[in-house]
Amino acid sequence: MTEWEELIQKCTKCKKCELHNSRKNVVVGRGNVNAPVMLIGEGPGEQEDIQGIPFIGAAGRLLDVLLNSLMLGEKDYYITNIVKCRPPSNRIPTDEEAYACMPYLRDQFTLVKPKIIVCLGATAVKYIIDRKAKITAIRGNWQEQKGIFVMPTFHPAALLRDPSKKPLMFSDMKSVREKLESMK
Ligand code: URA
Repeated sequence: MTEWEELIQKCTKCKKCELHNSRKNVVVGRGNVNAPVMLIGEGPGEQEDIQGIPFIGAAGRLLDVLLNSLMLGEKDYYITNIVKCRPPSNRIPTDEEAYACMPYLRDQFTLVKPKIIVCLGATAVKYIIDRKAKITAIRGNWQEQKGIFVMPTFHPAALLRDPSKKPLMFSDMKSVREKLESMK
């Protein structure tokens, strides 16, 4: 069994938090497992839970349009979430749930070895960058963690609620595209 197959099997069997009771599917990730960029969201929504694939609902489609407009395709990124099972009614994951799921995200970092991490929204910022950081204050500003560049930006669902955020997220992702180019 490959390391990825092992990880997927561990996630599929996981019962470390309450979310396993209500999930239809565990949502591990999608994209290129050797990609230079790793995008991290919050947790699967309804469509993701049904299909077992992250970011395929309305927010995911908007994210795809934004990434495609910057010539960023699935070969460039791997996308996952802080929690791998859907929180009921799409509520924010609890600390207990996020920390229970963290070893799987760590395994994903280890296997993908991204050069750039993009935190999509407040939950990813909280667990990847700083518990107390405010997304509106730090978005668009590069952070560095153990030699990996980390870009905090909005969650695409926030753009659906407030379209005025679109140019800001576009500018953040343009910065990601430029950083990626500068590394080639
Ligand atoms: N929102 C997320 O944070 N992740 C998904 O996979 C879908 C919607």
